[in-house]
Amino acid sequence: MAPLSVSVVGGGVIGLSIAWECARRGHAVTVYDPDPGRGASHVAAGMLAPVGESYFGERELTALLLECARRWPGYAAELAAASGHELGHRTEGTLQVGLTADDLAELRRLWTHQRELGADVVALDADGLREREPLLNPRARGVLVESDHQVDPRRVVAALRELVPVRREAVRRLSDLEADVVVLAAGCASAALGGLPVRPVQGAVLRLRGQAAPRHVIRGYADGRAVYLVPRRDGEVLVGATVEERADGHATAGGVRDLLRAATDLVPELAEHALVEVSVGQRPGTADNGPIVGELAPGVLVATGHYRHGVLAAPYTASAVADLVDGATLPLLWEPFSPQRLTGRR
Ligand code: GLY
Repeated sequence: MAPLSVSVVGGGVIGLSIAWECARRGHAVTVYDPDPGRGASHVAAGMLAPVGESYFGERELTALLLECARRWPGYAAELAAASGHELGHRTEGTLQVGLTADDLAELRRLWTHQRELGADVVALDADGLREREPLLNPRARGVLVESDHQVDPRRVVAALRELVPVRREAVRRLSDLEADVVVLAAGCASAALGGLPVRPVQGAVLRLRGQAAPRHVIRGYADGRAVYLVPRRDGEVLVGATVEERADGHATAGGVRDLLRAATDLVPELAEHALVEVSVGQRPGTADNGPIVGELAPGVLVATGHYRHGVLAAPYTASAVADLVDGATLPLLWEPFSPQRLTGRR
């Protein structure tokens, strides 16, 4: 088809991925963001975890996220080759662990649910777990989910920024933009710009640095406290995350304490690490935790509301939105996630 002009509002991992995909298909793309890559993408841990992040009653969302995860290895290779950037894509898998009998009872419910979804949840005995992850508390018990991987979102943003032009401007109204197609991909800011029911769900993430780090992503419970640990190859270990219905940009002392307590309960060695960063971001949440992807009005598309799954869903969101730009319909997996399901507008 003839190349179109496409304006993307939002320079996070979703907006930038859409922009790169549209540019790869020959369209003339501009991204608008006063501070690209500094919103939720800057805070996100980058777990590619459709299994670990699957919850009861979210079957359609999990089906979508499993397909999102399948696309990541190819996407990471293409993006690394096109940009010359290393993305921190790691495929060692994720350990899901608990410490107490209550933690493990909760996890067993989740593992049953995850297995029913067809996930590869591999039981490990105590020796098997210690062999894979010697730094784990010896009391920990758990499983390996081989297919839940990770990527470094800050590196992904840096790579995408090599490939798409960004205008460091705030957009006040979508109607101010002159383009064949406008794509609203502004995370929480999409609420005001598009009249969409997206709410900020704040999360604090800690970054630690030290000598010894785990090899796998580790997630689970430590005496009832939920936590995930995401080790980067450069020695950084992320500890996340709080989930708070507020948007004041501040981490709370209690939230940081609980994360550190759970992290050091699961991997005692982390108590020796330096706490080098506390960052706070706003996940764009929706009523059903699903993303909002589709046509908002003629010539206006939307891709927002990715809540806990923005990094995981970015490549497939990008190809779905680029399909819409090209005049095609969305793949079936996206049908439950139209804007109209939440706005009631047609
Ligand atoms: N995806 C992890 C989080 O939102 O904390």
